[in-house]
Amino acid sequence: MKKYLKTAKKRHWLLIIILLSTSFYLPFLIFGAYPFATKINLPEDAIKELTSDKYLPNYYESTSSYQGALPELTEEQKLLEENAFKNWDGGKCRFCHTVKSDDRDRMAPNLNKIFGKPAGVSKNFTYSKALIQQRESGLIWTPETMDGFISNPQGYIPGNRMRVEGIEDAETRQLIINHLLRESK
Ligand code: HEC
Repeated sequence: MKKYLKTAKKRHWLLIIILLSTSFYLPFLIFGAYPFATKINLPEDAIKELTSDKYLPNYYESTSSYQGALPELTEEQKLLEENAFKNWDGGKCRFCHTVKSDDRDRMAPNLNKIFGKPAGVSKNFTYSKALIQQRESGLIWTPETMDGFISNPQGYIPGNRMRVEGIEDAETRQLIINHLLRESK
């Protein structure tokens, strides 16, 4: 009996260790989230090159027409935008994505300064082939392309790994985009 307990204990530990290591690996398998903050998808100058011939506005500059068109940030408006970005009845974006540059990475690419960026260039994330192809064919994230993407992620970029339903309500999409324009600076 004693001997049995001794070996069973070992086996249980082994099982626990296997279960733990698999569960740590799961986010990588499912979402491609990188466990160490070292991965670069494209060097800075290559990213610049992808956008150099595109004449993009600086979406974050306070004088840009995009910032100028944002509704006044009253408490109510702020709550609406945050909810649309975070909550379950909105886009649930925050569940997977971070927006500040020093935020810890989650299971999805960081969305810091996403507007004006080519697709598939954030650090510390392993993108699907579908996203890399978009980068190669010149997709740049703008409020307009973002709107198309989140209204139907799988229709806009077939085969991408962002497995969420599209947001049908145009107003909710606008609130999400507003939130990103303000918060991903
Ligand atoms: C269940 C997790 C999850 C949710 C929720 C989610 N995303 Fe994603 N998102 C991902 C993953 C994973 C990718 C990478 C897809 C790939 O590589 O194919 C991604 C990619 C993106 C990209 C492309 C980023 C890049 O660097 O090219 C944008 C933009 C984006 N998501 C915006 C949003 C917005 C806005 C929302 C909310 C409406 C949202 N996502 C909700 C997981 C999620």
